[in-house]
Amino acid sequence: MKRDLLTPLDFSKEELNSLFDLACDIEANPAKYAHACEGKKMATCFYEPSTRTRLSHEAAMLNLGGKTMGFASAASSSASKGETVADTARVISCFADIMVIRHPKEGAAAVAAHYATIPVINAGDGGHQHPTQTLTDMMTIRSLRGSLDNFTIGFCGDLKFGRTVHSLVTSLARYENVKFVFISPPELRVPDYITEMLNEKHIKYTEVVRMEDVIGSLDILYMTRVQKERFFNEDDYVRLKDFYILNKDKMALAKKDMYVLHPLPRVNEIATEIDDDPRAAYFRQVQYGVYVREALILTLLNIHVPEGGQTC
Ligand code: NCD
Repeated sequence: MKRDLLTPLDFSKEELNSLFDLACDIEANPAKYAHACEGKKMATCFYEPSTRTRLSHEAAMLNLGGKTMGFASAASSSASKGETVADTARVISCFADIMVIRHPKEGAAAVAAHYATIPVINAGDGGHQHPTQTLTDMMTIRSLRGSLDNFTIGFCGDLKFGRTVHSLVTSLARYENVKFVFISPPELRVPDYITEMLNEKHIKYTEVVRMEDVIGSLDILYMTRVQKERFFNEDDYVRLKDFYILNKDKMALAKKDMYVLHPLPRVNEIATEIDDDPRAAYFRQVQYGVYVREALILTLLNIHVPEGGQTC
């Protein structure tokens, strides 16, 4: 039976724990894993722009001794000739051992997984889910705080279209005593299916418009970019794009040990003046993304590296 990653819920909490432990061991002992994927190939099929997610998967596979191939835009693939995702997934299965797909349509990765005979990783499907970013975010929080329980996380910006937000909230809702604070303009509120899920689980959350009102209560502040490409009209985007700008004045209101995360790319929502603040963790987050994707590739390919060496 092949295994895919389409949403963060495809892995149980126990499996996630093992994945993060493996990522930690990879961080501490990279040489031990340098040949683990020799002879294996990864196809990265990106129908939407990406810098981090595509190159982070490729770096992960290269670090494991495997090889990569793929396309970086729909225009350079047969999608431009009218090929369906289903057919592309069947074809890629003849070339590669594992496939990573990013697509503007919600559900596209699930279609690919249905038709592919190799493991499929969802690297973002429209405004829906982005599970490998969630693994990255969780690994970062676990490394910074030592645990994924007992903290308050604020999500700020475009909570409507931000797929990284939807995936992370869905996944963190399984942990103990995590409180959610949603900071957005009314037009960019988190979707109802997310708040309904929290209500069903009796998980506390608040929704506010002003960041200043809540920043002092947060342990993690998860900033997001306003998702220009998912807006239906330009005027709304222009009106909302600079609604939040995290700067030194706002950071002065935050706890001394509140960390700032961002899936990146950032536009204006975090002023560069806070990049050197020790609480700014968004570039460290990128590095964790490589380790966690290495661990994911090994897990989906069912490759076990013998124990030994130092663990963290
Ligand atoms: C995010 C995405 O693509 O959803 N980026 C990423 O993968 N790191 C966030 C974004 O584009 O704003």
